[in-house]
Amino acid sequence: MPDRLKIGVLGAGAAAQWYYLPATQHWDDRLKLTAVCDVDEARAGGFADQYGGTAYGDYEAMLRDPEVDAVAVLTPHRFHTEQVIAALQAGKHVMVEKPMTEGFDDALKVCELAEANGLSVSCAPPNMLHPGQRRLMEIVSKGVIGKINLIKLSQNSMGPGSRPGAPTDFSWFYQSGAGGMSSMAGYGLVRLTGLLGGVKSLSAMATTSIPERVMRDGPAAGKKVEVDVPDNNVIVFDMGNDTLGTMDTGYVAMGSEAPMMSLFGADGTIEVYGGDQVLRIRLYRDDWQTDVDGWGDVDIPGLDTRWALHPATLLSLADAVLDGKPLLNGPRQLAHVIEFIEKVWVSAESGQRVDMTTDYTPPSWNELPMEVRDDKFGLA
Ligand SMILES: NC(=O)c1ccc[n+]([C@@H]2O[C@H](COP(=O)([O-])OP(=O)(O)OC[C@H]3O[C@@H](n4cnc5c(N)ncnc54)[C@H](O)[C@@H]3O)[C@@H](O)[C@H]2O)c1
Repeated sequence: MPDRLKIGVLGAGAAAQWYYLPATQHWDDRLKLTAVCDVDEARAGGFADQYGGTAYGDYEAMLRDPEVDAVAVLTPHRFHTEQVIAALQAGKHVMVEKPMTEGFDDALKVCELAEANGLSVSCAPPNMLHPGQRRLMEIVSKGVIGKINLIKLSQNSMGPGSRPGAPTDFSWFYQSGAGGMSSMAGYGLVRLTGLLGGVKSLSAMATTSIPERVMRDGPAAGKKVEVDVPDNNVIVFDMGNDTLGTMDTGYVAMGSEAPMMSLFGADGTIEVYGGDQVLRIRLYRDDWQTDVDGWGDVDIPGLDTRWALHPATLLSLADAVLDGKPLLNGPRQLAHVIEFIEKVWVSAESGQRVDMTTDYTPPSWNELPMEVRDDKFGLA
């Protein structure tokens, strides 16, 4: 078997420039960039010159390239379903940025197509690969805080283009086919379901609190965009086993010092900080038999390894395709997450509590990747 996965990047925008193109260069022990495709063919050409590979302006032409084993789908959300399905039909493995598909039915189709053809779909966000998630799953599964009864989850930002540093026009993030839920919620929901399994039912309210956005800088600086997807979503959910939770997610929070997740257990509390990933874990215990009395920090080994970086989804895909390792960030979990997002809209519109139809069983914490630090693997 070859030791490098041949990657075609589809969509050479911000995510490609910030994460995936540099990853193919820095992690050249596992990845080889063989193609770059963008509707803006000149942009694809510029990055192909810089990082390597053949440039394409049409993704169907790239899918015919035998030098591409796996496609990294990094386009705006409304193209994901069509492009992921086309890549699988062309016999390519897939890495797809969040969300895997726009809708739940399409998510199931992707799972079935991949499974029927023995192809791997490695899904962003990369939370299941992150050392912080591994540590969180370890301490919860060892019963450090006992049975978890209440969860508070917050996954917010002010939205792309609201801060300086936009290399492209981010206005599509606020319009049909995208929005704060499809962009932000996945980080929290992959973390939650990776820890505690599937959600059983939910009830939601959703609204548009900031109906017009102005792109702050970059090529679209000053551009006004009408927001036509709710940017402010609050959800109550039931995990079964008499465990309830709340989640707020969207594009209306400029900053917060509150934890992004709190887990209230029978024997203690865990609070998690870090934004998209688990970078800090605080533990509260009042058991005098343990070495934690009151609040303390839990160490997180491996935070300086490449599994802690956003494009780790390419590494897990290489492990799955080249070495036959189980894919821990696969499409069944994302299908459950996408069903959750779709049911939020159903509940918000109907005012009714809605049951989930899929479930998800997470792997054990010790199946998650672990690597000791090695400077070669850093992207910094
Ligand atoms: N912007 C962020 O902060 C961020 C962070 C992490 C992940 N992501 C994810 O990365 C993905 C891409 O987002 P982005 O921020 O890079 O967007 P972007 O708008 O910067 O880039 C998208 C690129 O896709 C190209 N494109 C559009 N339609 C295409 C098509 N049909 N075929 C080929 N190319 C096409 C565009 O020309 C552009 O270069 C999304 O799934 C997003 O959620 C974005």
